[in-house]
Amino acid sequence: MKKGFIFDLDGVIVDTAKYHYLAWKKLANELGFEFTLQQNELFKGVSRKRCLEILLELGNIQASQEQFDRWMIEKNEDYLKYITKMDASEILPDVPRVLEFLKNKKAPIALGSASKNAKPILEKVGLLPYFESIVDGNNVTKAKPDPEVFLIAATNLQVAPQDCVVFEDAVAGIQAANNAQMTSIGIGDANTLTEANYNFNDFTEMTDDFLNGLLA
Ligand code: G1P
Ligand code: MG
Repeated sequence: MKKGFIFDLDGVIVDTAKYHYLAWKKLANELGFEFTLQQNELFKGVSRKRCLEILLELGNIQASQEQFDRWMIEKNEDYLKYITKMDASEILPDVPRVLEFLKNKKAPIALGSASKNAKPILEKVGLLPYFESIVDGNNVTKAKPDPEVFLIAATNLQVAPQDCVVFEDAVAGIQAANNAQMTSIGIGDANTLTEANYNFNDFTEMTDDFLNGLLA
């Protein structure tokens, strides 16, 4: 039976979660409050709009629609400043090995990300050719933990959801994968990603034997 593999982007393929954090923190500081790394966990896998809503709730700030839209633009402009300098050195450890392994097994690969900046980032780091389908913040109406993003990816790969494997660093992303009846693999802190079917600190810990087991 064909197995499909769906990767989140930020914090799984590339080390961009830190840049999102810095851009959100800058905005929070400008608005007069702190934004901690722990609070940032709530932002992982979440859309830009929803992130700003949460940020303003944290800072107890009311905003007009115009202000809200301006802050969304400002955050993204700050974020883009970080990623224009990006190159393959920002790919997280052993991601290319895993992508190459799956490609050699002819397993279809998709991206399932909340980010609207996904495609240019994959292009910049040179990984775009591995992906048969890119589903990102431009294609979805419902954010993770809703399974929509992964279900669209499964449809595009022509693989049944139960035969898809999702790699995620966000709590909301693991929940989305579970809600889609997919195999969820947490990349990061197992104490945070407690709902994942499997946990790895990073891809260096993921053996070829484990990957073969997923393909079986
Ligand atoms: C959006 C959010 C960001 C979040 C990311 C998840 O990315 O802004 O905070 O971590 O989704 O992938 P954006 O569309 O702004 O690139
Ligand atoms: Mg992520």
